[in-house]
Amino acid sequence: MKNIPENVENYLGTFSKKFDKNLVKLLPKSQQFSSKLFDAMYYVIRVGGKRLRPVFLMEISEILGVAKTYSFRTAASIEFIHCYSLVHDDLPAMDDDDLRRGSPTCHKKYDDATAILVGDAFQSLAFEILADEKTHPNPEIRCSLINELAKSSGSAGMVGGQMLDLEAEKKKLNLEEILNLQRLKTGELFRFSCLASCILSDKSDEIPIFMDFASKLGLAFQIKDDLLDVEGDEKEIGKKTKKDLGRGKETLISLLGKNNAKKKSEDLIFDAIKLLKPYGKKAEKLIDLTNFIISRKK
Ligand code: IPE
Ligand code: IPE
Ligand code: MG
Ligand code: MG
Ligand code: MG
Repeated sequence: MKNIPENVENYLGTFSKKFDKNLVKLLPKSQQFSSKLFDAMYYVIRVGGKRLRPVFLMEISEILGVAKTYSFRTAASIEFIHCYSLVHDDLPAMDDDDLRRGSPTCHKKYDDATAILVGDAFQSLAFEILADEKTHPNPEIRCSLINELAKSSGSAGMVGGQMLDLEAEKKKLNLEEILNLQRLKTGELFRFSCLASCILSDKSDEIPIFMDFASKLGLAFQIKDDLLDVEGDEKEIGKKTKKDLGRGKETLISLLGKNNAKKKSEDLIFDAIKLLKPYGKKAEKLIDLTNFIISRKK
């Protein structure tokens, strides 16, 4: 497997810095509501994150010719949903984790109730952003984004996957069941990132290619997350490792073994990149980012 090209890491670093600066501006003003809630929302954003779903959304949007102001706001909406999913995922009732992105989890820094409300507030904010005219002048496009984000994040999407994931602690799953669980809990938000770019550009012809791309990307991403849980460095990835095994969680690694799972993620990334060939030079950055999904150390 290729090493991480330094320029992708630099690119991501620069991207996330700029993205975060603008992301913070989308938080509702603190004077208008509980300062404790605002502080906790700000805390979750400030501790950072790789901003992978936004970078894919904005990169594909660039290839498809979408204005940056539109793709940024849509990328912010998916990142708020992702942050909400992590805040809830870490709660004692779910994965019960103390460390996230190298800092105490939201409920450790504040308390469980605040963490629940932070997640709720992020979710509402994501939809508020999409509904705003600033996200796109065409109301049909805005409506379609809202519809797709609701599907990706809801019971037939991320939330449904999280439920299956919790249930999986207590039973054995076969390959098909694990793939379905991963597709929902992780794949769906990546699906939105790729689909939203097609919706914003109003290029429905591109949808089949990018949906195929997203499903490969999403699964490869989750395999890598599971591999990092087994062999990653806690300090470097900023969250606790060896959690899945400890909780009896079935993953592709527990089912296929580490080497086969790794090989599967490499094949998925190879096939995902093949899909980008028709875009030629325009897709170079996207190809680097796609490789990064499995070469990353955190
Ligand atoms: C971690 O996602 C949670 C999963 C969906 C497996 P990321 O690895 O994208 O987390 P951040 O946003 O960079 O912290
Ligand atoms: C989290 O999956 C997925 C979502 C929050 C939707 P994990 O539980 O594997 O993520 P980490 O390992 O805690 O980041
Ligand atoms: Mg979890
Ligand atoms: Mg977790
Ligand atoms: Mg994990």
